Amino acid sequence: MVSETIQDALNAQINRELYSAYAYQALSAHAEEAGLKGVANWFSVQTQEELQHARKLYAFLLSRQGSVRLDTIEAPPQKFECVLEMFECALEQECALSVKIGELMTLARKEGDHATEILMQWFVTEQVEEEDTARDIVDKLKLAGARGEGLYLVDQELALRKYEAPKA
Ligand code: FEO
Repeated sequence: MVSETIQDALNAQINRELYSAYAYQALSAHAEEAGLKGVANWFSVQTQEELQHARKLYAFLLSRQGSVRLDTIEAPPQKFECVLEMFECALEQECALSVKIGELMTLARKEGDHATEILMQWFVTEQVEEEDTARDIVDKLKLAGARGEGLYLVDQELALRKYEAPKA
């Protein structure tokens, strides 16, 4: 059985993950409109990742006799000057998510909720990877250039990303 405090915190995190999925989908649409199919693909795969994060929390909450409370999802940013700004926005989003996961981990410890703490360990590891990947693309765009041939090459590389559904 999950406590009311942990239940509220997990529901808030579900909302953040769904917002993140929504924001990545908006970035994907923006990239597609700009003719950057590889970038659009990368953001679209990331949308799937975020939905999976939300589902993981959702399933966990239900498995512990908690209640899932889906709330309003805020509108994501709509305007970007360039592709570098899009990935800087993605990196900022991942860093903000990492902070919230850390807070959830601290809360689970304080409440003595070991199951939630173990789940948060998975998320902590995942956030390290997600931040690293986004930072890597930001660096690449700065090196290769966020326009012209450099951008073309980065776009080609990002087109290769495929979503891998988690193993049951
Ligand atoms: Fe759900 Fe990108 O973290």
